[in-house]
Amino acid sequence: MRLSVFGIGYVGAVSSGCFAELGHTVIGVDVSPEKVAMLGAGRSPIVEADIDTLIANNVRAGRLRATTDVTAAIAESDLSFIAVGTPSAADGSVSLQAIEAVLDSIGRAIAAKPGPHTVVMRSTVPAGTAETLAIPRLEASSGRKLGQGLHYYSNPEFLREGSAVRDFHGPAMTLIGAPLGDDAAALRELYAPIQAPVQLVSYRLAESAKHLANVFHAVKLSFANEAGAVLSAMGVDAREALRIFCEDRVLNISTAYLRPGFAFGGSCLPKDTRSFLALGRQHGVPTPFLDSVMPSNQAVVERAFAAIAAHGRRPVAQFGLAFKPGTDDLRESPYVLLAERLIGRGYPLQIFDRDVRVAALLGANRSYIEHEIPHIEKLMAPDVRSALEGAGIVVIGHIGGEDRRALLDALTDQVVIDLAGIPALENKPGIAYQGFCW
Ligand SMILES: NC(=O)c1ccc[n+]([C@@H]2O[C@H](COP(=O)([O-])OP(=O)(O)OC[C@H]3O[C@@H](n4cnc5c(N)ncnc54)[C@H](O)[C@@H]3O)[C@@H](O)[C@H]2O)c1
Repeated sequence: MRLSVFGIGYVGAVSSGCFAELGHTVIGVDVSPEKVAMLGAGRSPIVEADIDTLIANNVRAGRLRATTDVTAAIAESDLSFIAVGTPSAADGSVSLQAIEAVLDSIGRAIAAKPGPHTVVMRSTVPAGTAETLAIPRLEASSGRKLGQGLHYYSNPEFLREGSAVRDFHGPAMTLIGAPLGDDAAALRELYAPIQAPVQLVSYRLAESAKHLANVFHAVKLSFANEAGAVLSAMGVDAREALRIFCEDRVLNISTAYLRPGFAFGGSCLPKDTRSFLALGRQHGVPTPFLDSVMPSNQAVVERAFAAIAAHGRRPVAQFGLAFKPGTDDLRESPYVLLAERLIGRGYPLQIFDRDVRVAALLGANRSYIEHEIPHIEKLMAPDVRSALEGAGIVVIGHIGGEDRRALLDALTDQVVIDLAGIPALENKPGIAYQGFCW
């Protein structure tokens, strides 16, 4: 293929060298004449393992060259990658200045060429950039409509500096954001030699998956660093502790606990988080990152309350009270916190949770219920139908088995806020469904 790569910094130089090595003709484009001169002379504009020979060989073979001339680069290529920088603005938001400039110049050059052209966003940009910025700008400057001689894909880069060439050839996935019904055939063909599963998703999902990845890497590092500091202050070899921690591929290094939804609770997570923070304080180790965990969890309860309050409807029917389904354990249940928040703000409330009800009837958890939450016990409904009676709004914390079926049957046209992510609820016709964060 005939490719052009806009921005020959870390990402662009690696993409240019690697695609040329795969046999494509690549033109590197940059506003920096120095970088263009270097690449043109077969020298890498960045310091990176394995890239020098890759660039030297491919420039010598005539597959790789560089220019500052956008019009020529677009005329002589069919597909352009955008790999310009997206640094922080003063307020912490992303600066898309270079992106905007490059989109405009590419669009103008496309206007001057007869054939179709494909633009691929490789830079890290916030969700929504394709639809609200990149495509409108390209359409305005090229005078073409998307799909009519102009194609646009989002294809975030996952390489790490230091192992960039290796990462290019062995990514975890090839992520492509495309419009509905477009299978991104040209881009898939380009990546065919790369052994990685292709994820073809919407623009917004591709953009946000990359953004999330970097935030998560920062979160992992902060967790490991703070946990390590507390442990080592206690005389523990933190590297060994984290190594053993990582051996658990079921709950620790896994997809567990990575599904967005309602707050956590129960008898272990809040207690052990608090006590770990207390150890940090005792040893004089600041833990600003871990300190934010409990307030972050409280904010989830507040968000659920705000979502309910925004409808201005009452009474509220709440399903689920124990800290998770299948247990009667109410200790530090976020559903109890939500119920208390609602009661505190004067919302009439009807609650159903089969396990809590059975436990109360059998006396298993009765003393907790009678002593800790007597005000809530009074609001417990005996079954799904009674909980729903007269409800202006329905909140689903959790509900399973026969109760879930009964609820699905009984719901007609209610406003339903789903904190659990129940697919059958989402697809139930008639109700005014609202997912918590989906
Ligand atoms: N560096 C990484 O490890 C890495 C990894 C994955 C993704 N990313 C993302 O990729 C993007 C590029 O990052 P980078 O580290 O390669 O940036 P960089 O600063 O190294 O390179 C950007 C290049 O773009 C050039 N440029 C600016 N405006 C231009 C224009 N209008 N036309 C042509 N060239 C222009 C600059 O001169 C520079 O050479 C960013 O969005 C970044 O977040 C970076």
